[in-house]
Amino acid sequence: MRRILVTSALPNANGAIHLGHLFEHILTDIWVRFQRMAGNECYYVCADDAHGTATMLAAEHLGTTAAAMIETLRREHAEEFGRFHVGHDNYYSTHSPENERLTRAIYERLAEDGRTFTADVEQLYDPERKLFLADRFVKGTCPRCGADDQYGDNCQECGATYDATELGNPRSTLSDNTPQLRSSDHYFFDLAQFTDFLKEWTASDAVQPEVANKLGEWLTGGLKAWDISRDGPYFGFTIPGTEGKYFYVWMDAPVGYMASFENLCDRSEGLDPDDFWRADSDAEVHHFIGKDIINFHCLFWPAVLQGAGYRTPTKVHTHGFVTVDGAKMSKSRGTFINASTYLKHLDPEYLRYYFATKLSANTDDVDMQLDDFVQRVNSDLVGKVVNIASRCAGFIHRGFDGTLAEGVHDAELWAAASNVRHELADLYERGDVGRAVRQITALADRTNQYIAEHEPWKHVNDPDRRDEVQGVCSLGINVFRALVVYLKPILPAMAAKAEAFLKVEPLAWEDAAEPLVAHEIDRFKPLFTRIDRKDVDKVVAETVAEVEAEDAEDQGGAEVSIDDFGKIDLRIAKVVDANFVDGADKLLELRLDVGDDARTVFAGVREAYHPGALVGRLVVVVANLAPRKMRFGTSEGMVLAAGPGGEDIFLVSPDAGAEPGMRVT
Ligand code: MSP
Ligand code: ZN
Repeated sequence: MRRILVTSALPNANGAIHLGHLFEHILTDIWVRFQRMAGNECYYVCADDAHGTATMLAAEHLGTTAAAMIETLRREHAEEFGRFHVGHDNYYSTHSPENERLTRAIYERLAEDGRTFTADVEQLYDPERKLFLADRFVKGTCPRCGADDQYGDNCQECGATYDATELGNPRSTLSDNTPQLRSSDHYFFDLAQFTDFLKEWTASDAVQPEVANKLGEWLTGGLKAWDISRDGPYFGFTIPGTEGKYFYVWMDAPVGYMASFENLCDRSEGLDPDDFWRADSDAEVHHFIGKDIINFHCLFWPAVLQGAGYRTPTKVHTHGFVTVDGAKMSKSRGTFINASTYLKHLDPEYLRYYFATKLSANTDDVDMQLDDFVQRVNSDLVGKVVNIASRCAGFIHRGFDGTLAEGVHDAELWAAASNVRHELADLYERGDVGRAVRQITALADRTNQYIAEHEPWKHVNDPDRRDEVQGVCSLGINVFRALVVYLKPILPAMAAKAEAFLKVEPLAWEDAAEPLVAHEIDRFKPLFTRIDRKDVDKVVAETVAEVEAEDAEDQGGAEVSIDDFGKIDLRIAKVVDANFVDGADKLLELRLDVGDDARTVFAGVREAYHPGALVGRLVVVVANLAPRKMRFGTSEGMVLAAGPGGEDIFLVSPDAGAEPGMRVT
């Protein structure tokens, strides 16, 4: 029996769980469930990654404390994963006493052994917000191509990578101020000392071949020291022996794997973290991650573990990114789907199954095609697998008191169904789950065909062929049972219902070795319903609506300074003429008297106002808006109105006494 500790990457504690996280946790959970069915001792821990500037700012934006926000999110995340049947043994937080103690101890060990050093670093500093700016909080002009509005690490236009200090006209995205260049002491982990060790580790089967290639490039390019400190204010752990220095979030995040496990061990009889983490441990440690965080898990983390005297990971399993209908998950297209939105309309096992069909041992991106999603679930699961049980169970109950035959009707089919477990076990172990699913559905096809060939429905009332009918349907049920064994890591809830129907104890992998004979089964109840494409559309539409609501909230919450407001020249204007606009069913063309000045404005008020009713009326106009060329002419301003639009739009007018040209303040 193997002893295995498994982790998924720790989701950031500043946002919701989405399809990408679900993909990772579902694929990890499938692997864990398979290991347990195969008889191994397997623990699966995770946590929220709580620290960093982003958490601090998100809490500030919400008007709460970081500690309160991360605890709310942690609960939400744990609950949502649970509803997707992801069976973490512990879902903890990196903001924990265990993690603080472990991170400090690891750091102290590294420092004592000369694995760290300090150096001065020049960085952009926001004097108003009083903090050093991470790359994503600085924008400016690309030093290579001159494109405006580029982030502090790379240019979206020309692809250049650079330091934030190289940007032209830098500004802080937090305050819109020009940042200052300031220097401070930083702590570094001297990664280059571990080059030989990492070369060896990389070659040891601990990573997939394409990951080894990538690491090879980095290793031959020469490893740079890793900056593991941040200046306050920062949400994180302070570095022992310093003032106002914090561990960079990525320093304590992977230690969070150990901390979560230690927290589990504290609550579990006979479980000792040391058995899994000491240098000579013969237990296994497996990390599941996405390909964007390979450097942290395959360079820094093994080096930190090695340097601090711990064992290194047995294997890092890296996966690609989820795309939807061929494109990156997108908020505006409604494909950046959150777990909570999905759960309102769809069964979590649909997603588990679909992701399983897409899983491979490589790091290619995984496209979720929404039509294909519906099609696969309906045709494979409902049409092929469940169909076998529903066809056969009826005959077993009608003719044979619900009892399966004493023998096996077609030894060859049973042998195929049973022996494939070795190959499938191998595929699960390697993470080649998509291929396993194809074998499983092929076996279902073959079994449906076998049943169709023997036509039990024709012979069920023929006394001479009763044995055959019972034999065929019993074998159908037995193959179905083997299929349930093979699908159980993917579909635990469906498997539980099938176990009740088969009247068996929870199935383990080797249960597929022997058929059930002379065994009574229950009446068949539907195990799975079809997906309705309309429900998928609802998820997409709701996702779009959520994003729009968020945007509106952000707009509403954003502050402008009095100076910003002062830039807007609002004036009282009198409508002197109003006309329909040919070819524009929402617009009226207004001629406005603005004191010394007259101008033309196109206003989207046609559904609410008749032109005749507007002439003579006073309105408020944005007088210094840059003129906008429209199809019908140039609009020289904007009139203010309230309401969502269409028929519900209400022009803003002053009280009596105001006169055209007066400034509105
Ligand atoms: N907090 C870090 C991980 C620390 S681990 C010690 C982090 N968090 S994350 O929330 O941004 O991402 C968590 C995991 O989700 C990563 O493995 C990441 O690759 C994965 N995914 C995020 N979006 C994804 C997709 N669209 N598709 C698949 N997985 C992706 O990184
Ligand atoms: Zn550029």
